[in-house]
Amino acid sequence: MPATAFELLEAKAPFIPELAIVLGSGLGALAASPEALTGRAIPFAELGFPPQSVEGHSGQLIFCELEGRKVVLQAGRFHYYEGHPLATVTLPMRLYGRLGVKAVLLTNAAGALNPNHQVGDLMVLTDHINFTGQNPLIGPNPGPGPRFQDLSSAYDPALRATLHRAAKALGQTLQEGVYIGVTGPSYETPAEIRAFRAWGADAVGMSTVPEAIVARHEGMKVAGISCLCNMAAGILDQPLTHQEVLEAGQASAGRFEALVRRFIRDAAL
Ligand code: HPA
Repeated sequence: MPATAFELLEAKAPFIPELAIVLGSGLGALAASPEALTGRAIPFAELGFPPQSVEGHSGQLIFCELEGRKVVLQAGRFHYYEGHPLATVTLPMRLYGRLGVKAVLLTNAAGALNPNHQVGDLMVLTDHINFTGQNPLIGPNPGPGPRFQDLSSAYDPALRATLHRAAKALGQTLQEGVYIGVTGPSYETPAEIRAFRAWGADAVGMSTVPEAIVARHEGMKVAGISCLCNMAAGILDQPLTHQEVLEAGQASAGRFEALVRRFIRDAAL
């Protein structure tokens, strides 16, 4: 990790957040909430991060208090498909770990593979399949985790239970399942989706997996939520567009925000 990024963040962070929340494509509404607008926003550029490019991502860390807890919202993330090395993709996780953040909530837009799930559903990640062909821990081990990181409960069971309790209290449907991480940026072929279903994947997306691995390596608890923004390739007889993904994310924004707020309130971190 570049020492300067941590030094810059440490100097600018108004407090040590308990929880970091990465806001996925179309799920950025929390960053425009009254609490966030009065929080301390640090543009990625001020931390020496590379500029952001993907539509729907603005690129800032927002330190604020939500539901009575100190959190940092990450609006925007780095994707491998943009050409960023995995060290950059996962740099925010290294920074949160070094800062003393206890848990991360990783959110994303994903394609649904499970025919029992519907566009617009939210899905708690129970596990992931790393199909990126890459691993962010390759190279000299920067610590603090071991050389061979255990991922047998990558997505914290207690935090998953908190999400389900929160959804129940809100009267929301909340799916759960396995997320398969791919590099993108092309969407999958129908044959790939059939193969992924046979492997047990319920959702597919282009983020989250490298971040989850590094967050675990930093000793932080991890929870993940996918917004199922489209049925994956070949499930419906229609092409996929980034526009539909963003629109489905926006349509789920209210439910997503309510769920995340309740989670923040109730989670034992
Ligand atoms: N595939 C991969 N990534 C995605 C998808 C998809 O169908 N939808 C949103 N992100």
